[in-house]
Amino acid sequence: MWDYTDKVLELFYNPKNQGVLEETGEEGVRIATGEVGSIACGDALRLHLKVKEDNDRILDARFQTFGCTSAIASSEALVELIKGLTLDEALKVSNKEIAEYLGGLPEAKMHCSVMGQEALEAAIYNYRGIPLASHEDDDEGTLICTCFGISEAKIRRVIRENNLLAAEEVTNYVKAGGGCGSCLAKIDDLITSVQQEVASAAKASTNGHQSQKPLNPVQKIALIQKVLDEEVRPVLIADGGDVELYDIEGDRIKVLLQGACGSCSSSMATLKHAIEARLRDRVSKDIVVEAVSP
Ligand code: FES
Repeated sequence: MWDYTDKVLELFYNPKNQGVLEETGEEGVRIATGEVGSIACGDALRLHLKVKEDNDRILDARFQTFGCTSAIASSEALVELIKGLTLDEALKVSNKEIAEYLGGLPEAKMHCSVMGQEALEAAIYNYRGIPLASHEDDDEGTLICTCFGISEAKIRRVIRENNLLAAEEVTNYVKAGGGCGSCLAKIDDLITSVQQEVASAAKASTNGHQSQKPLNPVQKIALIQKVLDEEVRPVLIADGGDVELYDIEGDRIKVLLQGACGSCSSSMATLKHAIEARLRDRVSKDIVVEAVSP
């Protein structure tokens, strides 16, 4: 018998958001649908979003799931978390937040929270016309677990976001390793690799806070380029866009927004602020980012 929290049981016995949303011809509103999992593997989730087109806000959401108590409760939690958010805000909802909303899930059921997050991403990618494969395969698309079709990128992400330390935990979150077991050694290697990355990032951050010595111009340009290349561009590229460093004048950073990022004025403003916030956090709190036209 699983040890479910009261919140999980409450949402399972009284789901409010199960069902379907369909196009009704309402002006300025579009329905987006995302689907993950497979009935053969025992879990499947289809998520429907009602999106206001002029501001990308999620007006409503519904789900259909073939799954257990925690799959239904996780889907309910997801819908409650994303209603009223913009699509960009919703993309930041992690599986950890879904589990926290539920007051926790049994370890062996954490994959239900991951499934909710993935269905959300699938719906948003469908809405934006971005092929999901280009996201799933992004920069690290190597297939690690052939039994469950789980890529390196997905395993790295779940390790990083949930601070996983053992292959068994990865199996609980994304099922990888739960079949023939031949991928378990590779999963162990990925855990080591991600933990090393996290430790180096923490060390770099601590050194940055301890050091009062300002960066010289060359160091500053190098750090800005590194943050753009490693932390900003992968996210934009996954969303069909990109950014290029154009010029630096003191704390004024000029960038060229490309692809989907440069195609409309509102997304340019959003991205400018997203890039600016990241550079302020990682380089200098005085940085101002300007998007320039090519
Ligand atoms: S390849 Fe991962 S469990 Fe079989």
